[in-house]
Amino acid sequence: MSSIGTTLTRYILEQEQEQPEFAGELSILLNQVAYSAKILAREISRAALIGKLGLIGERNATGDSQKKLDVFSDETVIDAIIATKLVSAIVTEEQEHVLHVADASEANYVLVMDPLDGSSNTDYNGSLGTIFGIMKRKPGVDAKSIDHFYRKGTDLIVAGYVMYSTSTLLVYTTGHGVHGFTLDRDLGEFLLSHENIRCPERGAIYSANLAHYPEWDQNIRHFVDYLTWPASSPDRKPHSLRYSGALVADFHRCLLEGGLYFYPPDPSHKDGKLRLMYECAPLGFIAEHAGGAASSGHARILDIQSANIHERAPLAIGSKEDVALYDKFVREGHP
Ligand code: AHM
Ligand code: MG
Repeated sequence: MSSIGTTLTRYILEQEQEQPEFAGELSILLNQVAYSAKILAREISRAALIGKLGLIGERNATGDSQKKLDVFSDETVIDAIIATKLVSAIVTEEQEHVLHVADASEANYVLVMDPLDGSSNTDYNGSLGTIFGIMKRKPGVDAKSIDHFYRKGTDLIVAGYVMYSTSTLLVYTTGHGVHGFTLDRDLGEFLLSHENIRCPERGAIYSANLAHYPEWDQNIRHFVDYLTWPASSPDRKPHSLRYSGALVADFHRCLLEGGLYFYPPDPSHKDGKLRLMYECAPLGFIAEHAGGAASSGHARILDIQSANIHERAPLAIGSKEDVALYDKFVREGHP
């Protein structure tokens, strides 16, 4: 019998019975993420009516201009998560330092997140996202130690994203399949709409900011040329370009339809633009659990050890064969 339409809560509870290591805590955490996603979906959709568009006039920890919705999203997710007392510390794109949760220093988990991905889209009704990842707190390590975060993506136990677009979709994995839930606004519930998502082995679409083409490494330019003008092989069709300005939205397309997103280094983004800990690693975890891949061009994203909470990494993510081809071009400049 199809599970489509099952509520997120019921689905997680059923999944939790097969993963006793979560001790009933996973459902609480994911339900709080889902709760904050409902609030964000509502506020994003009416932001133009309630004065929530535009800049707040400050820059965040990584030097980006902060939007009102960035700050609202950050506060909303943090409030929902700290209420559980299941998370001892949080790293968020919007705050310079690790946030230690009061009265929860012995909690079992730590959270990493980008509360509002693609926030340059806010004022233009474009797609937006929330990215999150959960790791077990390191046993025997002081609660305030940074070592709870200086780890590899392979240490994630849960990763997910919410996409705010024509519908609001929550996708997550605990390492047992990647599942997507669409928000039914009338019911106020996330309902299973995409069970066991599998990323096609290859796709016909790529996403990248081609404004950087002239300054990319020659091998990356060769890769784009190869995707775009495959004249040397009559069997191959050109890849289509799709770029929304929101990683979550572009990645989501790759996950369902195949293809890849990439953001390589360029002179103003020497390590790429995207943040390893709360953008690349959680999405890489999801990609791999759906049969896809994520790479920096030189290494598997999940194998890169974090050394700074806001560090950046070059990213290529999506279909396994497309990411492998990207890696080959990075190394050799040809297929
Ligand atoms: P953000 O988290 O501050 O929104 O930055 C990340 C975003 C990605 O969602 C998107 O793919 C990329 O930055 C767009 O950058 P650019 O405008 O340089 O193409
Ligand atoms: Mg982001």
